[in-house]
Amino acid sequence: MAVERVLSGMRPTGNLHLGHYNGVLKNWIKLQHEHECLFFVADWHALTTHYDTPEIIEESVWEMVIDWLAAGVDPANATIFIQSKVPEHAELHTLLSMITPLSWLERVPTYKDQQEKLASKDLSTYGFLGYPLLQSADILIYKATQVPVGEDQIPHIEFTREIARRFNHLYGKELGFEEKAEAAIKKLGSKRAAVYEEMRNAYQQSGDEEALESARAMIEEAQNLSLGDKERLLGYLEGGGKIILVEPEYKLMPASKMTGLDGQKMSKSYNNTISLREDVDTVAKKIKTMPTDPARIRRTDPGDPAKCPVWQLHEVYSDQKTQDWVQVGCKGASIGCIECKQPVIDAVLKELKPIQERAAQYAEDPTLVKNIVAEGCEKARKLARETMRDVRDVMGLNYG
Ligand code: TRP
Ligand code: SF4
Repeated sequence: MAVERVLSGMRPTGNLHLGHYNGVLKNWIKLQHEHECLFFVADWHALTTHYDTPEIIEESVWEMVIDWLAAGVDPANATIFIQSKVPEHAELHTLLSMITPLSWLERVPTYKDQQEKLASKDLSTYGFLGYPLLQSADILIYKATQVPVGEDQIPHIEFTREIARRFNHLYGKELGFEEKAEAAIKKLGSKRAAVYEEMRNAYQQSGDEEALESARAMIEEAQNLSLGDKERLLGYLEGGGKIILVEPEYKLMPASKMTGLDGQKMSKSYNNTISLREDVDTVAKKIKTMPTDPARIRRTDPGDPAKCPVWQLHEVYSDQKTQDWVQVGCKGASIGCIECKQPVIDAVLKELKPIQERAAQYAEDPTLVKNIVAEGCEKARKLARETMRDVRDVMGLNYG
């Protein structure tokens, strides 16, 4: 199996909060030690919904990169860049748009869902309809094999796979591929050539995986074949050609357990977040004013943690001993809610402290942050240019 390349993006539309940290960033930070990783600021995607408030995007881009770095995304282990600084994404988006049926875009569930959810905005735009295709270009241009995303994004990755398949079907073969593959078969010698043909038929006509495997092994072992011929024979076996765009897999990130201050999922649109830059007093105040089980009107009224959003934070932040203390104390009315909230306040502050210290260092040194991103953009562009060369070639756009 080839090495994995991980790619993911985030839209710069405001401050990052504990939900992002626990849901996405911790995951990225782990992945950067396991695979080659590219993480980027999807500023064009943000414009699809925030075209009338570009100042929000402008403010958020650098702040978001600082939050990533402060959380522990490490430029030595991951390439950090900004989408709009790699204009090749736009070029691939345009070229892919030529082969994208409108109906495929219209049936992506986020299209109608988001239009309904953000009804106050006019999202009947060309850019918004094309959102998933721009995302496909982001992914395919790097030949990413793994895309860590939340559940809502799965249809976009599936869409990307369909686009890659369609592209490869239309353009995936080099010129004269069949003839070159047939010539390579002859080079196997008559005996092995016959075996190859037989196994190719067995696989293509009846899906015989074993035949596929042994034909592959035979090709790998053939001493007299060039690398190019080996690739051709491997591609020809499965009925394809030389693969140009790689179909990515999605990597479902475990849904964040992070609850907001009101018991709903933590999200900016619910106004129930604790941001990564929140100061100590605000964190304490926000948690102290959180609603609790309404049955606990007086200190002596017993409650039920299952009906209390504070308990959900204990589930993320507290050890078993503290959790037992909450369960017993709440049900038996032996602790008060203010008391119960203190370990959560302490744990959140403990988590935020090193992040905020690092954020302050980066915020003080904008040149450092800009250099990190400039270097990331340069690396990303190099990869993107290579893919675009192949894409232009097969789409007949190399006029010398
Ligand atoms: N649509 C993604 C989101 O809203 C952001 C995104 C844009 C993305 N391009 C991407 C994610 C490419 C993964 C890969 O979360
Ligand atoms: Fe919630 Fe804790 Fe109060 Fe029980 S004691 S209602 S769990 S804050």
